[in-house]
Amino acid sequence: MHKRYLMAPGPVSVAPEVLAKMSEPLIHHRSPQFSAILTDVREGLKYLYQTENDVFILASSGTGGMEASVINCLSPGDKAIVVRGGKFGERWEELCTTYGISSVNIDVTWGDAVDPADVESALDANPDAKAVFVQAHETSTGVKHPVQELGAMLRNRPDTILVVDAISAMGVYELRTDEWGLDVVVTGSQKSLSLPPGLAMVSVSDKAWKLVQKSTLPKYYFNFLKERKALGRQTTAYTPAVSLIIGLGEVLKNIRDTGLETLHTHHKRLSEATKTAITALGLELFARTPAEAITVIKAPEGINGQEVVKILREEYGITIAGGQAHAKGKIFRISHIGHLCEWDMLIAIAAVERALKQLGHPVELGRGVAAAEAYFADH
Ligand SMILES: Cc1ncc(COP(=O)(O)O)c(C=O)c1O
Repeated sequence: MHKRYLMAPGPVSVAPEVLAKMSEPLIHHRSPQFSAILTDVREGLKYLYQTENDVFILASSGTGGMEASVINCLSPGDKAIVVRGGKFGERWEELCTTYGISSVNIDVTWGDAVDPADVESALDANPDAKAVFVQAHETSTGVKHPVQELGAMLRNRPDTILVVDAISAMGVYELRTDEWGLDVVVTGSQKSLSLPPGLAMVSVSDKAWKLVQKSTLPKYYFNFLKERKALGRQTTAYTPAVSLIIGLGEVLKNIRDTGLETLHTHHKRLSEATKTAITALGLELFARTPAEAITVIKAPEGINGQEVVKILREEYGITIAGGQAHAKGKIFRISHIGHLCEWDMLIAIAAVERALKQLGHPVELGRGVAAAEAYFADH
């Protein structure tokens, strides 16, 4: 018999009080009651994003928010610079290609962060590029890209916007939308917002609005101009995902009560304790500039990372994530996002120790757990 634990980087575990809130009897979306909720949620999102910009809420997974950003900001034949350092960077390129945008790709070795100098060179060589697309945190590799530096760079280029996929980063660590000049920022409900899948949120700066107003790519549902009009009436253009937005209200209320700084410290503790444990076990981290959202571990020589994931899921009841694309089998990933606390991390570390031992890797059981416990006790 197992107790089930969800420790993959999305979908993540959801707090019981949020699940309870979402299961309350449904209300109508064109009603003063829902408008009041939506107004609160929009204010909460501005707090989370640290922005004065509008933040739109779309009924889709995170990829829908990425697609919405491309089709609302660009026009056929436009050029964009894409940071491709993992599965989700590749998605930006695929979206651009789908819509006839010519993408100048900056290929980054998986596990590395983009070098801002490479983006600067690409911008110098392509001054007509309308946008730079990047991830704040590339979930497939665990890498944190330097979006603050990129934002500063693009401030001096009035015709190019910075579009940031912060789907697994927003709320995890510091991301200052306005202060850092992040023009379009995408998030999704089932990652750092600790909700079930189904919502994408996108903020749009004044600089980006200039492109939105000129954009001629085809769009119907994902339409920022329609959403902005609806927002003036305290509603959404089409039927919103009512229950998820009510859940989002609960999450944002908790975030405001707790404070962003405390939330960032929480993720930092979980992340650093886990990384300390992994190192104590003699294992290697995959990301060279790791984010606090997940810990990505290189499978030791002779061990298939997918086997570790399988043992945890099928024998211990614990879901973590494996590698994607060419990293499949080579890494495994433990989440720090979602409704998790330090005790959950000790469970994940203990399970990894046991699975590795089961697979014949020499580990001293308890060594990683002890290192993490010592970290938690000291921090
Ligand atoms: C950084 C990042 N971008 C985009 C996505 C895609 O989001 P979704 O699966 O919600 O469409 C994910 C999902 O793992 C992600 O982590």
